Amino acid sequence: MDAIETSFKDIISHSKEYGFIYPGSEIYDGLGAVYDYGPLGVELKNRIKQYWYGWMTRMNDNIVGIDTAIFMHPEVWKASGHVDAFNDPLIDNKDSKKRYRADVLLEDQIEKHLEKANKEVAKAAKRFGESFDEALYRETNPRVKGYLDKAENLRRKFAAAAEANDMAALKDLIIEEEIACPVSGSRNWTDVRQFNLMFSTQMGSVAEGASTLYLRPETAQGIFVNFLNVSKSNRMKIPFGIAQIGKAFRNEIVARQFIFRMREFEQMEMQFFVRPGEELEWYEWWKNRRMKWHQSLGLGDENYRFHDHDKLAHYANAAADIEFKFPFGFKELEGIHSRTDFDLRRHEEFSGKKMQYFDPETQEKYIPYVVETSIGLDRMFLAILSNALREEKLEDGSERTHLKLPYFLSPVQVSILPLIKKDGLPELANSIRRQLAGDFAVQYDEKDSVGRRYRRQDAIGTPFCITVDHQSLEDNTVTIRDRNTAEQIRISIDEIATYIEPKLNMSTAWRSIES
Ligand code: GAP
Repeated sequence: MDAIETSFKDIISHSKEYGFIYPGSEIYDGLGAVYDYGPLGVELKNRIKQYWYGWMTRMNDNIVGIDTAIFMHPEVWKASGHVDAFNDPLIDNKDSKKRYRADVLLEDQIEKHLEKANKEVAKAAKRFGESFDEALYRETNPRVKGYLDKAENLRRKFAAAAEANDMAALKDLIIEEEIACPVSGSRNWTDVRQFNLMFSTQMGSVAEGASTLYLRPETAQGIFVNFLNVSKSNRMKIPFGIAQIGKAFRNEIVARQFIFRMREFEQMEMQFFVRPGEELEWYEWWKNRRMKWHQSLGLGDENYRFHDHDKLAHYANAAADIEFKFPFGFKELEGIHSRTDFDLRRHEEFSGKKMQYFDPETQEKYIPYVVETSIGLDRMFLAILSNALREEKLEDGSERTHLKLPYFLSPVQVSILPLIKKDGLPELANSIRRQLAGDFAVQYDEKDSVGRRYRRQDAIGTPFCITVDHQSLEDNTVTIRDRNTAEQIRISIDEIATYIEPKLNMSTAWRSIES
């Protein structure tokens, strides 16, 4: 099968056409960076959750789950540092009146320098053919070296300005680099200002008695404030983890790239509590484990890379992203942070409650250190969907849209298709559907020719299509078609479940992480 390129636009329109994702409040012309998940989207999303949560809490015997409230006491966000430090540096273009994140403008500029270097290298590779030594060319060609030096210089200056929270220096870099507004084309910029990303709302019915609450910008704080509850009620011994999936909200100014950056999104976070001094070892261990988890999905190891942070968040002493190759380039998919004892210590300070743990092995009391793994569920969804969608040419010359999802994540696992809508075939097909429906996500489809129905199932990623034909009435057998290969075999109706079950369970992929 030959693959044909699909664009980011194709992914967005495919999502809507087949009921994966719709723009939020669409009949009112949508709401910026807010999206709704349709019938197939919610199924895929639930399976991704299961793949994360099941692995965390079943395959790690020292991790338990939790589900905490979105509304939290306002002091939580003072203690966590979000009231003071959860800001984005913003800059406006005076001509277009468009607002941008200064850090994003500079990151894009670094990418541009790197892209120019890569283009030069690609041209040279074509020119020199087999004898081309890429590493040497990068080191010695003056043009390539010039672009690479520009990128590195800018990266260093940008990291220093960001580290020092120096807004004036960020603006100077934008001017120095001659970055223009993509809309007006002008370089007429305002100063860079800090903007807090938390949404606020009121609790209480009367204005005087109402208090300001924030919609949580991360789920992690729900875990920290319950650290003592969980460790006591579940008799957890350090090292142990608490995992949670839930909504988070951020008033993103530059919300773009579909569900990559949303204002309402879901996070899958795990806080792992360890002895002080052991956190960096655990941090490395979790970096490695999380990368293996991603690779177990089979989306291609070359599509992931680590990016170690230069600028650390206010709570971290080490941090890295796992980046994924999205259709618009390598971008952050998951963050892994060594959060020190910052959060628990601050909650102890602000609440007046001791956040200490008594370690029965060392007979010591201490505030644990924390290693966090944090992944955006919607971003994971986009990574999987964009990797899966492809146009293919089959061996018989026909073309199909193929959503090549990992089988165990597919929203519909089996579709049952009567060859025609008469002669008792729909009745038999429906009885098979009922037989399988308790254990699998099954869809019955009798509309259109069977070929068109196969195409529809390929486009939503259904691993198995079962066709009920006249022979089925005689000998109780059906054909079962495998999505990836488009090959069909004939099997007895009684054997369907045992044939498909091992190909649809998650545990085989989970076990590959341990090996
Ligand atoms: N508790 C740590 C934390 O929240 P983060 O790097 O700000 O760290 C973690 O966020 C993950 O959440 C990111 O790697 C990303 O996948 C996801 N995420 C963050 N902001 C998002 C947004 N606006 N839309 C979608 N996903 C987002």
